[in-house]
Formats: sequence, C-alpha cells, structure tokens
Amino acid sequence: MAKEKPFVPPNEMPPRPIQPLLTGQKALVTGASKGIGEGVAVALAQAGADVLLNYFSDPEGAEKTAEKVRKAGRQALVVQADVAVEEEVQSMVARMIEAFGRIDILINNSGIQLNAPFDKMTLAQWQRVIDINLTGQFLCAREAVRVFKRQGIDKSISYAMGKIIHISSVHDIIPWAGHVNYAAAKGGIMLLMKSIAQELAPLRIRVNSISPGAIRTPMNLEKLTTPESYRDLLSLIPYKRLGEAEDVGRAAVWLASDDSDYVHGAVLYVDGGMVLYPEFASGG
Ligand code: BGC
Repeated sequence: MAKEKPFVPPNEMPPRPIQPLLTGQKALVTGASKGIGEGVAVALAQAGADVLLNYFSDPEGAEKTAEKVRKAGRQALVVQADVAVEEEVQSMVARMIEAFGRIDILINNSGIQLNAPFDKMTLAQWQRVIDINLTGQFLCAREAVRVFKRQGIDKSISYAMGKIIHISSVHDIIPWAGHVNYAAAKGGIMLLMKSIAQELAPLRIRVNSISPGAIRTPMNLEKLTTPESYRDLLSLIPYKRLGEAEDVGRAAVWLASDDSDYVHGAVLYVDGGMVLYPEFASGG
C-alpha cells in the first residue's frame, strides 16, 4: 500500500528578493541553527550583512545556515556558545570583533521551551528557560552595548551607534497555560528591551523587539502533523496562514536598517493578528 504523504502546512509566500538595506553591516544572531534564527540570519545576509551564527547544540544546522549566508555572497562565522554563560558570551563577542572588526546589529534570538503543568514544573525547568530566554538576552545585549560604545557612530555604515533586536513572542502579552516559564521570560523581555531602550536612546543605540506568532519552525511543525491541528491553530490567527521564518527575517532587516531609524523601544508583532483576541471576532 502506498504510504500517505505526511501533512505539511502550505507556504503561501512566493520567493522574492530582499532589498540591500544593510550593505556592509556586521550582525550577530544567536540561536541561528534553525527556525527563526536561521530565517533572520539568511535575510540579513541577503540584505548585505556579514553574520556571526551562534548555536548551542546543533552544529550541522548552524553549518547549513552558514551555507545559505555564503550563497547570498556574505561571510558567515559559526560559533558555539551558551548564551546563559557570561564567559561564553564574552568570548563569542571577542571572536566577532576578531573576524569582522565590529558589531552593528545584535539579534537576540536563542530560546527554548520546557513545558509542564504549573504544579509539576521543576525548578530546573523554570530556571533553564529563564536563563536562556531572558538572562541570555541580557548578557548578549550588555556585551553588544559595550562594543557599540567603543565603536561610536559611523554614519557611512548606519545613523545609529548600534541596533539590538530582541526576538520575543506573542506570549510577551498572551498568557500561556502550561508554559509559565516561557511566558514569564517573554514578558520579562518586553521590559528588559524598553528599559535598555530608555537608557540608551541618547547614545543612538536603537533597541526594539519582534514578537512572532506561530511560525514554521521545527518546534511548531512537530505539533502541526494533521490538517485538524493546522485548522485549530488557524482559529487563533486572523490572517489565516502560518508565519514563515522569512516573514520575521524581512521585519528584522527593516528594523535593523536606517529605514526604521526613528523606531525605538517598540514591540513589532509579526503574528498575522494573533494578539487581536480573534475569539472576539464574533461575540463578546
Ligand atoms: C511559540 C510557538 C507558538 C507561538 C504562538 C511562540 O512563542 O514558540 O510554539 O506557536 O508562540 O502560540
């Protein structure tokens, strides 16, 4: 008997070019071995940036992303580091300076989920998610800001002294049962981002978040194996399609570029309207 083809949610977005808004810039992307990190790294490269690709546990994935960056004609440097460990973040940033001479853009992307019902959640599950998803963003942002301040502003590269983009989630405002460690970390990212933004605005260091909804990542594809599970997910997405990593990548290119120079301390939801309370579209 012929095996049935596994269900894969449709990709409705045609391939199309990315504008060269980041020519000559150097970007560091954490968690770049797959999913959103991969999509953002490749989009930044297509927009003209050389990219340091950080990974923690998937060297093959990181190497595949590196090939795509090189195919776009840009340099890729793959560096293993745990973003929750201060010394590892510091030596990763030192490698970036050695290889590329500077940092213009930090994409704080690394993130994990360790789900459990609230009363079953272990301290270790709580702590690891907070360490990677929140403390990791603090550590990488702090090191990037130290470099930005040493570099100063070079208007031939960018009007800003540096750009930090925190990759958060719609769960920075949507509570998520069974994922309280994850939602707490993402909620924390919002005020981490806004507080850094407030503090560093006078230096022209631009700090913003992108909060994606449901994106085609390995994590989500594991859950979307049947048309029914996809239909259930679409009931939460007014725009009625799964997001692509490239959707986030394109938003990151714009947010990292001088085209968004006056956008600061903002949360950009790239979520097909997921935060619009779709269950209220009829009723209430
Ligand atoms: C999670 C996804 C989820 C989405 C919307 C994201 O932060 O990583 O697994 O589909 O939020 O709930």
